[in-house]
Amino acid sequence: MSGKQSVTPEARVGDDLADAAPGEVVPAPAVGAGQGSVVFVGAGPGAGDLITLRGARVIAAADIIVWASSLVSPEVIAERRAEAEVIDSASAPLEALVPVYTRARDEGLLVARVHTGDPSLYGAIAEQRDLCERLGLAVQVVPGVSAFSAAAARVGAELTVPQVSQSLTITRLEGGRTPMPPGETIASFASHGATMAIYLSAARNKALQDALLAGGYPPQTPCVVGYAVSWPEEMVLRCPLAQLSATMRAHKLWKHTIVLVGPAVGAGPTGTRSHLYHPGFRHEYRDADPAVAAPLGVPETVSQRAGQPVTGRHSDGAVAGTPEVQPGDKQ
Ligand SMILES: C[S@@+](CC[C@H](N)C(=O)[O-])C[C@H]1O[C@@H](n2cnc3c(N)ncnc32)[C@H](O)[C@@H]1O
Repeated sequence: MSGKQSVTPEARVGDDLADAAPGEVVPAPAVGAGQGSVVFVGAGPGAGDLITLRGARVIAAADIIVWASSLVSPEVIAERRAEAEVIDSASAPLEALVPVYTRARDEGLLVARVHTGDPSLYGAIAEQRDLCERLGLAVQVVPGVSAFSAAAARVGAELTVPQVSQSLTITRLEGGRTPMPPGETIASFASHGATMAIYLSAARNKALQDALLAGGYPPQTPCVVGYAVSWPEEMVLRCPLAQLSATMRAHKLWKHTIVLVGPAVGAGPTGTRSHLYHPGFRHEYRDADPAVAAPLGVPETVSQRAGQPVTGRHSDGAVAGTPEVQPGDKQ
């Protein structure tokens, strides 16, 4: 099937594929030494040790490193070859990279194209991949820790707490300079009441709060606001949704900020158990203990979570947003 990219799913029904196993095997990308290639490397959210080992190895081996100094920490590219060429893409349009990529192809060079977080999210790698493939370069992507993972880790949150939320919507506020596909609105996603991670929307925090409320989240729904997570200047705050905009304005968080919303990101106990670790739940690697095969119902704390004031040390509401302070943090 490979090479039949123009065949539509409709055209496949009933044709010679009837006897073949369904699905198209995607071969592993071939990126080798001496072959012109571009590897999109996820740099992680900021801290130099939040890049993957694979990503770091690619950077260490690269002949050319293209990175955005405005978004990626210099730590991430510190371990490079002395003779590696470093190009800052912060102010360069895609076209400016054409001569670089062409030279990489002609001279068989390895380019590490370093992206903040995970390249698959708001990384504009689709257009870059198309360009590289047009130029005849091999392309590979190394995943990275995205901002939503870093923010969740920072507050110790599980974004998919059983019976609270089993879904995560990754999105941004519509109505900005980047057009959104019809149907992708904050309010429509909010109507599910599940967990949301909202990128690229800090500057319009009032519109964001209004849309989240309009979608149906209760005003007390827990929010986590993460500014420059894992950078030295990091600030992480909790607040109820009704105070989201006031919190972001009070701390002047216009950019480099991610917002997590939903009952799962609240502080305090969840009151739920997953089936996976419940002794009364049998699975492939463990028998159930019949003595504790208790029903895994919905405890009261779960139903309280979405609408209750933010719990524990975050419940006073005196300040618009309470910084999550950990030992050693600089606020
Ligand atoms: C162009 S997008 C890139 C996202 C990136 N590919 C990722 O996976 O995290 C930039 C946006 O990501 C979010 N972001 C990236 N790194 C962040 C960090 N360290 N702390 C908070 N938000 C971050 C912010 O919403 C920022 O406006």
